[in-house]
Amino acid sequence: MLSIKNLHMNFGSLEVLKGIDLNIEKGKVVVVIGPSGSGKTTLLRCLNVLETPSKGQLSINNQDIDFSKKITRKDISAIRGQTGMVFQTYNLFPHLTALENVMEGPVTVQKQDKKKARPKAVELLTKVGLGDKLDYYPFQLSGGQQQRVGIARALAMNPEVILFDEPTSSLDPELVGEVLQVMKQLAQEGMTMIVVTHEMNFARDVADEVLFMDGGHILERGHPEDVFSHPENERTKQFLNLLSE
Ligand SMILES: Nc1ncnc2c1ncn2[C@@H]1O[C@H](COP(=O)(O)OP(=O)(O)OP(=O)(O)O)[C@@H](O)[C@H]1O
Ligand SMILES: [Mg+2]
Repeated sequence: MLSIKNLHMNFGSLEVLKGIDLNIEKGKVVVVIGPSGSGKTTLLRCLNVLETPSKGQLSINNQDIDFSKKITRKDISAIRGQTGMVFQTYNLFPHLTALENVMEGPVTVQKQDKKKARPKAVELLTKVGLGDKLDYYPFQLSGGQQQRVGIARALAMNPEVILFDEPTSSLDPELVGEVLQVMKQLAQEGMTMIVVTHEMNFARDVADEVLFMDGGHILERGHPEDVFSHPENERTKQFLNLLSE
């Protein structure tokens, strides 16, 4: 369903992704771990074409793009339409209510009628437990509530895959659980998800596969239990030791 072949990404002379290969089947949950600067965020941003890789191929839900060739705006929007992104710092529009934030993409990007977008947005906010906060502005919501609006906003575009970039790392510890719970529910409903997170219990509980990234490479991948309990790569071992300290 999602396939990445030999993906490279440079910022100027700095090569940040050095040939990423990855296949993900529909409905699978993949957790990405790795040290700061290893390229986790860049990988997600490339999948959503917020960054343009220097070469490599990407295919999501039969939409293909070859970054070695000239790519058009149409190619970008076709592939971008397949993915939704949930950011570490929520990135909600501060001047829009929860409901308006969720309706924004369908109305402005997908040109949906407001009458159609509204009930769907209400349904999604209800699903993430915010049916009673539709008219609240981001500043009136807790971090956990804002992030759940962020998830509803990603879902509103009907993506094939949702990309989560450290969705709980800006939250106070007592708010982490409510966001992970919504993510777990999505996984159980069969959503395909790529999640950058260091929440090991979530990974053990929910992930089908864990990837360890370092220096722009995927150094190790496998079932969470295998990667966490019996890491094979020396770098993975060091990283997991640091995390558990
Ligand atoms: N817009 C940019 N311009 C130049 N360099 C960048 C840019 N974005 C990221 N980088 C560099 O790319 C490398 C990978 O960054 P990235 O944000 O993907 O790492 P990460 O694994 O997500 O790290 P963290 O765990 O700290 O979020 C880093 O060396 C970073 O400095
Ligand atoms: Mg990052």
